[in-house]
This record gives sequence, structure tokens and C-alpha cells, in this order.
Amino acid sequence: MPILDQRSLDFWSHSPEQTVRFGARLGELLAPGDVLTLSGELGAGKTTFVSGLCRGWGSADQVTSPTFVLVNVYRRPDGQSLWHVDGYRLTTRAEAQTLGLDDLLAGQGVVVVEWPERFAGLLPGERLNLTLRWADHTRRGLRLDAAGPRYETLLSDFRLAAFGS
Ligand SMILES: Nc1ncnc2c1ncn2[C@@H]1O[C@H](COP(=O)(O)OP(=O)(O)O)[C@@H](O)[C@H]1O
Ligand SMILES: [Mg+2]
Repeated sequence: MPILDQRSLDFWSHSPEQTVRFGARLGELLAPGDVLTLSGELGAGKTTFVSGLCRGWGSADQVTSPTFVLVNVYRRPDGQSLWHVDGYRLTTRAEAQTLGLDDLLAGQGVVVVEWPERFAGLLPGERLNLTLRWADHTRRGLRLDAAGPRYETLLSDFRLAAFGS
């Protein structure tokens, strides 16, 4: 597992189940207000990762692709929320602005955004970004990039939880 520096981590997933497990490891570490963006083409595994993330975070809710509804919310028994936003179907900046992302970001929930490039300028600069790359039928390259001190901590905690170092 090549460690690029304190702000990045590159690793492989060899199956959808492994991607779910990586998601769960990260989900266990999420705190209220954390922002995670997910990049990668259709079928790269973004929603698969979120299903594990949500489970690790502590919700029993079923994760589905928000492609047709733009925003899904998952709840936890303690009342906290995880917002799952998908910009895939957004075509204009005006549409992106009417989604109410500002309100989500101002709240206490965790915010997870697929297709963050559709929200250019509307997302905080400090966040954790995951990029998934299709390698072959069952393999994906994953890369985490942390921007800001909170996310450097989150990344190093994830590295410890997932890889033990
Ligand atoms: N290593 C892997 N990680 C994640 N998904 C994988 C992997 N190998 C195969 N897949 C498959 O690729 C698809 C990913 O779909 P999805 O998570 O909806 O992608 P996205 O949200 O990026 O469009 C699923 O059908 C999943 O089973
Ligand atoms: Mg998706």
C-alpha cells in the first residue's frame, strides 16, 4: 500500500464486498459535519462505498443510488443524519444552487457528495475526497485526498483502522 504523504492514500479494492468494508471502516470514524466527496465514473463503485460508509456510521437504512432523487438521507438511532447527494443529473449551476446544499452543510449531519464537480464553488474547500478508478471487472483503485486538518486526522485514523499503520 503506497502511502503518498500525510494527505493522500492509494489502495486497491478487489471486490464490491471489500469496497463496502473500506466504506464501513471510514464510516465508523465520521463525526457530525464531516464532508466527503466521491469522484469516479459511473459504475466505479461510489454508491457501493456509501452503503458500507452508512453501515459503519451506524445506520441500518438501505442505501440506494440517489441518481433519481438527488438527495437521500440515512438516519441513525441517536437521531443523527447522513446526507447522500448525487450531482449526476444536475446540468446547470442554478439547479445545483436550488438543491439546498448550503443548509445541509450548515447542519450537524454528515454530507456525502457524488459528482462534486457539479457543485463547483458550493462545497467547502476542507473535505475528504475519494476517487474510484475502474481497473477491471472486480478491481477498483481507490484514492483518498484530505484537505484541511480535520480530514488529515480522519485520513490517518482510517489508515490505522484499515491497514494497521
Ligand atoms: N471492487 C469493486 N468495488 C466496488 N464495486 C465493484 C467492484 N467490483 C465490481 N463492482 C461492481 O461495480 C458496480 C459499482 O456500482 P455503483 O457503486 O453503483 O457505482 P457508482 O455509484 O460509482 O456509479 C456494482 O455493480 C459493483 O458490484
Ligand atoms: Mg452512484
